[in-house]
Amino acid sequence: MNSDIKLMEELVERLNDLAYRYYVLDEPIVSDKEYDELYDRLRALEDKTGTVLGNSPTKRVGGEPLKSFEPHTHINRLYSLDKCNSFDELRSWFEKLKSACGMNPKCTLEYKLDGLTICLTYRDGQLVSGATRGNGEVGENVTEQVKTIKSVPLSIPFKGTVEVQGEGIMRISALNAYNATAAVPLKNPRNAVAGAIRNLDVKETAKRNLDVVFYNVNFMDNPLGSQVKQIEFLTENRFKTGMCFVSDDIEAIIAKIEEVDRSKLDFAIDGMVIKVDDMSVRDTIGYTDKFPKWAIAYKFEAEETTTVLRDVIWQVGRTGKLTPLAVLDPVELCGATVQRATLNNYGDILRKSVKIGSRVFIRRSNDVIPEILGVAEHGENDVEVIKPTACPCCGHGLTEEGAHLFCPNFDGCRAQIVARIVQFCSKDCMDIEGVSIKTAEQLYDILGVRSPTELYELTAEQLSRIDGFKDKKISNFIAAVKASVNADLPHFISALCIENVGKVTARALAEHFGSIDALAAANAEELTAIQDVGEIVAQSIVEYFSLHGELVQKYKSLGINPVYAKKSDGKFAGLKFVLTGTLQEYTRGDAAKLIEQNGGVVQSSVSKLTDIVIAGESAGSKLEKARALGKKIIDESQFKAMLNS
Ligand code: IVH
Repeated sequence: MNSDIKLMEELVERLNDLAYRYYVLDEPIVSDKEYDELYDRLRALEDKTGTVLGNSPTKRVGGEPLKSFEPHTHINRLYSLDKCNSFDELRSWFEKLKSACGMNPKCTLEYKLDGLTICLTYRDGQLVSGATRGNGEVGENVTEQVKTIKSVPLSIPFKGTVEVQGEGIMRISALNAYNATAAVPLKNPRNAVAGAIRNLDVKETAKRNLDVVFYNVNFMDNPLGSQVKQIEFLTENRFKTGMCFVSDDIEAIIAKIEEVDRSKLDFAIDGMVIKVDDMSVRDTIGYTDKFPKWAIAYKFEAEETTTVLRDVIWQVGRTGKLTPLAVLDPVELCGATVQRATLNNYGDILRKSVKIGSRVFIRRSNDVIPEILGVAEHGENDVEVIKPTACPCCGHGLTEEGAHLFCPNFDGCRAQIVARIVQFCSKDCMDIEGVSIKTAEQLYDILGVRSPTELYELTAEQLSRIDGFKDKKISNFIAAVKASVNADLPHFISALCIENVGKVTARALAEHFGSIDALAAANAEELTAIQDVGEIVAQSIVEYFSLHGELVQKYKSLGINPVYAKKSDGKFAGLKFVLTGTLQEYTRGDAAKLIEQNGGVVQSSVSKLTDIVIAGESAGSKLEKARALGKKIIDESQFKAMLNS
């Protein structure tokens, strides 16, 4: 029996260490299978002995649903944060600090994670309770819920009494994974985490794969002397912590905030938190009745709000796909008035149970058009969104593929053809300047253009019938059409408008196959062998060429048959460039093309990864940044010399 307990202790320690490496450090050292075997052995011993150790990982699964939440009194009050919305307000906060403590105080900068405060108490190295913030003095006991979070240590090396505070979060990847199979999708990470932790059904909490990132030691017998020491303490005790930048220069802190790119993070943040580092300086500065005066949250512009859905209109895209566009009551979001949002597809509308008349959550994503996340509240007279059966543009019957609806009328649907002409002419494709949606509509309506291939046959006399096409514009257009015959393969593949093939995939396909004929001949197996090409993309490509092979022949007869020279052969292979200022001899677009043709990559802004900055006349902030980062800076003539070397 004793030997069983000893073995259990060893297994618990091993499993907790493996979980720490996996969930906190993100550096697993064994396979899932090996972990599962050890876990099963522990379970078997627990069954046999009838004993479960306090820090056993088997306690993480959640048992019977709880009846209610018990109140939990925090050892020390949990303060909330004062906030500001501009760098000027942040500067004046810092000025006040300076006068209060008579120096430039060292400050820390951390993410302001957008989730739910979690406060954990450990005694003798064991987790004894987990609680929400509540009113700061009394919260709700959520110990069982917190135990399901795999990155929360059930036991820690530190043996004194300690209360630590962090933010419970649901990673965006975890949210997406959950939503991919959920009957009712979660609307956003903050609601997802609050709903999971304040859930009496602990098994549901366990399903959500939450995380906690810690930023505060709220109580300790011998308090630590600074924020940096607190973060070190937390890290040493196996808690997950976030980024922590330290500086006594408010401008350096502001520069660091400006570098933050929310779209690159796998978790939601709604701002940044700046705290005085030194605890004795904090004591000098003190508190108001609500906030510490030694800390402040710099809030980003809200990315999310709610408004009422008034209608859904269906747009037909270049591949024939129908996309529902939400018509909204106008609302302010990120400094703009929003009246439209995307709803992805019909399946999405059903899953989110979005109805006309509902109040919906909208969020600005990376695209210009915001996205509807879900219903905030159903209205009394909500009506279902009707699934269309015919194309709203040409009336043709629709086909259904997965969650999407398509108009199969490739050669006869005006909306599709217009969208294809616009895409074909765009900068990322054949680069034929001046073809807006309105122009494309006139090409269709007035000149009867039914395919991008027909652009190559248009005469000056015909073009003069299009609005805004005068002598110069006509000759430029004809010249651009002629020049487009020499477009490179990635641009040409993008111009074909293959479903699910964007710029990045087009480049990967060009690199792999080297010619349009080779791509057209590829089967699904060959396609999926390429990194980033999944089965759905492969299927779209195979289908495209089986249906539209004659179109490729037509392009070839027009002289469009690019081959792709491998990038790794170019003289700029592997080099990252940034262009800034005005060049004399090249447009920026030309210079970018030359760089890419020689295997280089063009970036839009200077970063640590940039290799060379080409500075033309009146180059501004990018040049300054390049200097600050010590980057290689060259002028136009040096660039030319590199090209010709
Ligand atoms: S410190 C005395 N640091 O923001 C200061 N809070 O608006 C205690 N939060 O209740 C909080 N990230 O839930 C702190 N790095 C961070 C934070 C953070 C998110 C949350 C926390 C707090 C709320 C205040």
